[in-house]
Amino acid sequence: MDVIVTDNPAQAFHRAADMIATEIRAIRKPVLGLATGRTMESIYRLLVRQHKAGTLDFSSTTSFNLDEYVGLGPENPNSYRHYMQEHLFAHVNMRLSGIHVPDGIAPDLDAECTGYEAAIRASNGIDLQLLGIGETGHIGFNEPPSAFDSRTRVVELDAITRRQNSGMFGNDPERVPSRALTMGVGTILEARRLLLVAVGAGKASIINEALNGPICENVSATAIRLHDKATIILDEAAASLWKRPTIRP
Ligand code: GLP
Repeated sequence: MDVIVTDNPAQAFHRAADMIATEIRAIRKPVLGLATGRTMESIYRLLVRQHKAGTLDFSSTTSFNLDEYVGLGPENPNSYRHYMQEHLFAHVNMRLSGIHVPDGIAPDLDAECTGYEAAIRASNGIDLQLLGIGETGHIGFNEPPSAFDSRTRVVELDAITRRQNSGMFGNDPERVPSRALTMGVGTILEARRLLLVAVGAGKASIINEALNGPICENVSATAIRLHDKATIILDEAAASLWKRPTIRP
């Protein structure tokens, strides 16, 4: 696992966007796992900028988003499908058929989850999975406890997460959907490369737990340490409580 600590959030976002862009250029048919949240907005902005400058082509890229709220369709401004349209898809040349976000209004949610896993397999798996981290230590919406072999499924959202994500819902946690569809920890670990990005002092405590705490299903981000190609990009503030291993001469 590589941990990169940058001086400020802007540098963290640039490092992350460059890693993603390098992956897109290196692979003939790249399959990206995408994430949502405030952290990702700046990263997508940088990728869009590269595309508009003519240096990044998304035409052969396939994407799978991590998660979606149950009950919110693509037209709902709070849905993750809508978020992705606004921050990335509307501005780059991805094929519509290459875009996958779990359908939060599918009539049969379990069938949607099974179909999502099948679609990932049919695309030959995910090359690079982008991840943020929630206050509960979740990756995707894998709330505690989430088995490390869990697959795409319907989950109940933690009260902490509903509060953390309430900004888009008039700051009212009660208005945040209580359930979501999420790739499982097992699904995420199968990606060939993982990239987790976290910035800001608000993430410092959970980052220290994710990097130094016991690897356990109560903090799903600790699973990243089991992956042999994982990169974590932090700014100084997010790394401020991380007890870095001392390297002895
Ligand atoms: C949501 C998403 C997570 C994301 C988290 C962090 O809960 N489901 O995948 O990691 O937000 O969001 P932010 O970047 O806004 O802190």
